[in-house]
Amino acid sequence: MLHTNLSVNEKGHLAIAGVDAVSLAEKYGTPLYVLDEDRVRANARIYVDSMRKYFGEGSRPLYASKALSFRGIYKIAAEEGMCVDIVSPGELYTALSAGFPAKDMFFHGNNKTDADIRYAMDSGIGYFIVDNAEELNAIEDYAALCGTTQDILLRVTPGIDPHTFEAVNTGKVDCQFGFSIETGQARAFVGEILKKKHIRLRGFHCHIGSQIFDQVPFCDAADIMIRFLAEMKKQYGLLTEILNLGGGFGVRYVDSDPVIDIAENIRLVASHINARCIELGVAHPVILMEPGRSIVADAGVTLYSVGSVKTIDGYRSYVSIDGGMSDNPRYALYKSQYTVLLANRANENADFLCTVAGRCCESGALIQENVLLPRPVRGDILAVLVTGAYNYSMASNYNRICRPPIVMLSNGEDRIAVRRETFEDLTACDL
Ligand code: LLP
Repeated sequence: MLHTNLSVNEKGHLAIAGVDAVSLAEKYGTPLYVLDEDRVRANARIYVDSMRKYFGEGSRPLYASKALSFRGIYKIAAEEGMCVDIVSPGELYTALSAGFPAKDMFFHGNNKTDADIRYAMDSGIGYFIVDNAEELNAIEDYAALCGTTQDILLRVTPGIDPHTFEAVNTGKVDCQFGFSIETGQARAFVGEILKKKHIRLRGFHCHIGSQIFDQVPFCDAADIMIRFLAEMKKQYGLLTEILNLGGGFGVRYVDSDPVIDIAENIRLVASHINARCIELGVAHPVILMEPGRSIVADAGVTLYSVGSVKTIDGYRSYVSIDGGMSDNPRYALYKSQYTVLLANRANENADFLCTVAGRCCESGALIQENVLLPRPVRGDILAVLVTGAYNYSMASNYNRICRPPIVMLSNGEDRIAVRRETFEDLTACDL
């Protein structure tokens, strides 16, 4: 199967981490997010161990919690020795309420409000990743008021296009995040930061994009960043302690996606960085990365029930399920590819070409087009694989559909980590 935690059992059912998917659907109902906790931990360990080994002591992953945010995931991040990247006060609140230490949090985003900044600093946030001048001033003012000094990294754009999908490409010059190196604005802004009395500039951040399958774009970004560090040293005498290279490696959603050895890629990036630091006379900084999807995506499977199968003569067949863009908007937004199968008939010949449609009331609310399944019937359990990232975290109540629960699997046991939303939840804020 696509990933080693997936198999077909003796009943011909999909098994996730050895647990029968059909029995999970019967026990908890559908739609249902299933998350293999052991897989999440294994993915985290690859980054934690190889970053320490190859980049050196202090280097570690920040889990990009935008990929999947709920209390349980922050507990796992803490236990596995990851810091976290948060982008909103809601993610901050969730992490704090899970007991995640604020000092190990990095606050991202291109518009942190004054209230966000106060909330984060009152909570003892480790770092802000500063994106703009207004925010820098607000942090300085509040730190002055509190009589403290706040650690920050500065977000810069190295101007790299890693040839990924446009909408998830954030390292180019023309984007709303950070300061451009190419235009000279990053260099000038560092001068402004160094004038601040209550801010300590510990290093720099860049994020070049998502779904990167080899080390080359990271090496290219590192080249530009280390040259920039050398410039900062020359111009301001600044010794950069931390270099954050942004989001993690890509994830295999379908068979045609490449298999990637993350540890080996980290080793290659590390030897590249070592060589550049020596060449440019820059002290080797602590290296951070911010993997999100490669920590959680392949640990997730979504289970749905088939409701109807409709063939439009001369056109195509639609299989409708009991979830949709409300729990997985990624096909509607990005035409993202997924692997789809019938969990209760996983051994049967898949020769029925169809489009899987969600239950939301609009024609673009599809989950996948042109997939092959055994001809489904009402009541079959349809599984969409590799849904651990950017599904629950991007879910909505569109059409007043309740968000599904998250069931976590560990050591062959299943437990509810996020309960199913109820109709009362839907109206809880309505006055
Ligand atoms: N760090 C920063 C600053 C980011 O902007 C992102 C993703 C990450 C880390 C994590 O990247 P990852 O390791 O997950 O690839 N909703 C889109 C993804 C948007 C990602 C935006 N930033 C999707 O569903 O594909």
